[in-house]
Amino acid sequence: MKALVLSGGSGTRLRPFSYSMPKQLVPVANRPILGHVIDSVRELGVTSVAVVVGDRSEDIRAVLGDGSSHDVDITYIRQEAPLGLAHCVRIARRFLGDDDFVMYLGDNMLTGGLSEIADRFRADRSDAHLAVRKVDDPRRFGVAEVDSEGRVLRLVEKPEHPVSDLAVIGVYFLTAAVHEAVDAITPSERGELEITDAIQWMVDQGGDVRTSVHQGFWRDTGRVLDVLDCNRELLAGLKPRILGAVDPNSRIVGPVVVGEGARVTRSHLAGPAVIGAGAVVSDSVVGPYTSVGDGCVLDRAGVADSIVLEGAAVRGVIGVHSSVIGRRASVTDSPVTHRRTLFIGDDSKVEVHG
Ligand code: TTP
Repeated sequence: MKALVLSGGSGTRLRPFSYSMPKQLVPVANRPILGHVIDSVRELGVTSVAVVVGDRSEDIRAVLGDGSSHDVDITYIRQEAPLGLAHCVRIARRFLGDDDFVMYLGDNMLTGGLSEIADRFRADRSDAHLAVRKVDDPRRFGVAEVDSEGRVLRLVEKPEHPVSDLAVIGVYFLTAAVHEAVDAITPSERGELEITDAIQWMVDQGGDVRTSVHQGFWRDTGRVLDVLDCNRELLAGLKPRILGAVDPNSRIVGPVVVGEGARVTRSHLAGPAVIGAGAVVSDSVVGPYTSVGDGCVLDRAGVADSIVLEGAAVRGVIGVHSSVIGRRASVTDSPVTHRRTLFIGDDSKVEVHG
């Protein structure tokens, strides 16, 4: 089996971060989401991987390279514009040949539960096998109507009146039968070649399309709150490791990673939390569920349940919670009382009290 990992797209829901980096590279527990995706693909025993990239292909290549650090071989396929998930399959035809493959959305985070579905797909020899989940708001997803044995009867993309609460999540096991389907469909109203339309076409032609309910953790990290959820989930399994310097006046409670060259002084680290390499933390309270990137500076800061990206600084501000702070951004206390000075990028969100 091969893998097709989709890392193009526009990422409009993850602004402002997606203005300056591909959304798949937003770090969760100090590693890009896409790194977690490639590991998950490798755990299925797949080593031949194509990554579909858009405008920001250079950023993605710089992080994944030839794949050797993940023990896979990576081929990059350039998509000129985000023309849809089925379009990605079309342009990957030569790479995929007639092999089975797993199509994995590069912004989806799954832990556990996938290899069971892959085994079922390999054993059943169906035309396609989709991972699905019960969701509270099916209107945001492609929704599958299935029979009592989990065979797909109908798929609807973001239905206004859903007939099922089973959402198709970001992992699709597909055979070469999908190629005729992606060639047969035309763009949807939003101008994209929809994978749900292609799979519906397979069902209409009498194809055998099955589903399995995924049991582990899953998030589509399309929105900032979902990224924070993933951060919490991954940090919950953190193995503690102190490589940097922690002074005797600091206290560490719970699982904490302090990266190489980091310095922690007079601070309280409440795990689970990760402090990146070369970060400087002084007179601060950090965590739980907090990832602080490489080279960050936290001074007299209080940060919990948050992600602070590489090179950012928080000085003299406490009560930072459920926040994502972009690369090299700076949050400081004001030298003039009762003034808030904000230089905030497009589509940013700031919530303050009082
Ligand atoms: P989506 O999150 O559905 O689309 P998007 O990236 O355009 O995001 P938004 O809705 O916030 O604007 O895409 C799912 C994954 O597939 C994501 O990793 C991007 C990737 N993708 C492509 O590679 N090519 C495409 O044409 C599309 C639509 C998505």
